[in-house]
Amino acid sequence: MAQIYFKTSGKRIEIGPEGEAHILRSSIRYGAGLPYRCAGGRCGTCKLFVESGMENLSPVRKAEERMLGPLIEQGYRLGCQTYARGDCTVSWTPAPAGTREYAKLRAFWERADLSERTLAHRK
Ligand code: FES
Repeated sequence: MAQIYFKTSGKRIEIGPEGEAHILRSSIRYGAGLPYRCAGGRCGTCKLFVESGMENLSPVRKAEERMLGPLIEQGYRLGCQTYARGDCTVSWTPAPAGTREYAKLRAFWERADLSERTLAHRK
């Protein structure tokens, strides 16, 4: 089964039988830790680098063209605007330790790990 590999956090998420998965929603649901803020293509926080599998991603949207411009040609996409339709590996630059952004992300990951354990107990 096809997977999204979130290299920065080490999470692998299988793409379900529907055949595509929204990258940011998958990250939130399964605790992969991709940073985000607006979830609507307006802030650029969810910018990610596509390490492999660009051919398996949904076409570039106008919001990405506006936000990323030439970075798209270099392999960048917005997680909140992109669907994976096959195997892909994505990464992002983690916030530097000691910053407020790092503290927020760490808190998010801790909450996500907790909810992941909760989900595992339900299976
Ligand atoms: S979360 Fe703001 S552009 Fe994706």
